[in-house]
Amino acid sequence: MTVVVLLGAPGAGKGTQAPLLAEHLGVPVLASGDLLRAAVAAGTPLGREADRYMSRGQLVPDETIVRIFLDQLRAADAKGAILDGFPRTHAQAEALDRALAEHGDRVDHALYIAVPLEDLVSRMASRRICAANGHVYNVATNPPQRPGLCDIDGSELIQRPDDAEATVRARMAQQVPPLEEVADYYRAAGILRTVDGRQPIDEVSQALIAELSDGVGSATGGGH
Ligand code: AP5
Repeated sequence: MTVVVLLGAPGAGKGTQAPLLAEHLGVPVLASGDLLRAAVAAGTPLGREADRYMSRGQLVPDETIVRIFLDQLRAADAKGAILDGFPRTHAQAEALDRALAEHGDRVDHALYIAVPLEDLVSRMASRRICAANGHVYNVATNPPQRPGLCDIDGSELIQRPDDAEATVRARMAQQVPPLEEVADYYRAAGILRTVDGRQPIDEVSQALIAELSDGVGSATGGGH
């Protein structure tokens, strides 16, 4: 199986790029944020717990997200997955490695979309997502064809509650340091590749696909 971890600060473009990479590789996307937002919308106990952290820009506790995310991964396509938003901490990265190793698998590629923090706050202010499936738009840089409606499923475009500027700044302050630890973890494993996320969306996609094609991580390991 092919496992690709997509890393980046809030707003770096993970949710934009993940479906494009998934199509390229023929594997599904597992997005921790989408999973949590669905639980919040459904009002489940997990959703109520997650909402307390998400609305303050904090990470959901490791033990909660590890359990639900790894359950999703086990149920996913045997060919692999693009992981968007997981792992977010060193402990999550270790838990993912342990879970994959149980089946002789491992993370093949860790792709880091790098964008300076000052660019990210303005991106979030103009982001819109579709109410039905979370497809990502930007009224400034990536607008839908029909204003206010998703190109893919026609549902209404909305602003995420955690895209308010104060929450965005809290997300940056609290989530970027653990993200850097995760990047260090994969750098030490020799599988981290960094792409400049300030480029136009299609150029970021091409750069990510080029990194997937360079054979990183394909030399060893059972189950691949
Ligand atoms: P999550 O939904 O994963 O949010 P995030 O990581 O903060 O990332 P975003 O979805 O905000 O941004 P993105 O990188 O996907 O950027 P996008 O493609 O949308 O998580 C939400 C919350 O859930 C977290 O805050 C946390 O509380 C919790 N959580 C999730 N996972 C967790 C975990 N593992 N552990 C603990 N807690 C967890 O792009 C942003 C905007 O920019 C869009 O408008 C887009 O159109 C535009 N854009 C994209 N690319 C470009 C480009 N190249 N040029 C110009 N504009 C662009």
